[in-house]
Amino acid sequence: MTVAVGANTQATAQKRNGDPGSNDTDLARRLRECREFFELPELAHLPAERKTSVLKEMRRTGTYVQSAEEILIGAKLAWRNHARCVGRKHWRTLELIDARHATSAQDIADACFEHLTVATNGGALRSIVTVGPPPLPDGREYRILNPQLIRYAGYRGADGTVVGDPAHLELTELAQSLGWRGEGTAFDVLPLMISTPDEPVQLFDVPSELVLEVPLVHPNYRWFADLGLKWHAVPAVSDMDLEIGGVRYPCAPFNGWYVNTEVGARNFSDTDRYDMLPTIAKKLRLDRSSDRTLWKDRALVELNRAVIHSFRESGAYMVDHHTVAKQFVDHVEREAKAGRSCPTDWSWINPPMSSSITPTFHRLYDPPDLDIRPNFVSRRGSGCPFS
Ligand code: ARG
Repeated sequence: MTVAVGANTQATAQKRNGDPGSNDTDLARRLRECREFFELPELAHLPAERKTSVLKEMRRTGTYVQSAEEILIGAKLAWRNHARCVGRKHWRTLELIDARHATSAQDIADACFEHLTVATNGGALRSIVTVGPPPLPDGREYRILNPQLIRYAGYRGADGTVVGDPAHLELTELAQSLGWRGEGTAFDVLPLMISTPDEPVQLFDVPSELVLEVPLVHPNYRWFADLGLKWHAVPAVSDMDLEIGGVRYPCAPFNGWYVNTEVGARNFSDTDRYDMLPTIAKKLRLDRSSDRTLWKDRALVELNRAVIHSFRESGAYMVDHHTVAKQFVDHVEREAKAGRSCPTDWSWINPPMSSSITPTFHRLYDPPDLDIRPNFVSRRGSGCPFS
């Protein structure tokens, strides 16, 4: 008896949390999200019947087909609502590639390639979201397994050292297990790995002419170029769900542009990534006998100067952490004037170096409500909470 009550309570609690398995409450939640979406001022221009008819359709079938306009507005709002994005000032500029017609992994790959072409735009980056098909009624779905459209492989050698990006060791092994062979350089672009309702995971090499890369050079130190570092210009996140009006799009890659610190103060300097600070400090002949000489801090500044300088030299757009912080504070103030809250995660908004000399550091924000919709929702489980 006790057991039965316990089990029942657990099931109820799960339903309350919107567990996708518990279909009644999941539908109730999605109906609410749908109603709330069509009541947003951004959709006030639609005829009133639209809301009634999609709600009716959703009650009957569990879902409904959104118009491209609804998706674009929803995706812009998802960006505006995303508490961890410091680039939100530009939410209105987002453009949509509607790829819901895709029926194969090849179709998804083609849409991703188009995305890269349009987003790269010869270096004048454009913010794009590509939206693939929603899940089928039975729950099977289209998915991109790569966390971003462009990611560098990581290979562990026999002696335990890693060539490439250690963050992608597992993904690289998966690609290899599916027959892919990389060249073995520190910057091999991984193939897109796409799963669909009816096919096993398929691999697609990203054509190199679609991958704009920036070789790193330093404005003062000629030796810097000899380190042979480079990074790709377009950060296109491909493993988050886009949730709009009660509909979830698991295949919805989107991009903005880099802040220098993502590359210089994380990708190349984290000890579990390319870990370049010791090498750079050595070339700078810094005293590394103690952390207290601040050799890491000094190497970090030079690395970030190189990143900013190189992107500028290559004609690839990137923003620096001072400028983006100012833009974000502008954005927050503009949102307040418009009478909207702006949920914000302080720990993500502040740059990973020099935070206290940017304006985002010295203030509080609306609490980071990861539950408001529309939004981009992470599928990543545990791991580093700041990547
Ligand atoms: N931090 C990630 C990287 O270094 C990119 C995340 C998205 N960044 C952006 N600026 N939109 O690749």
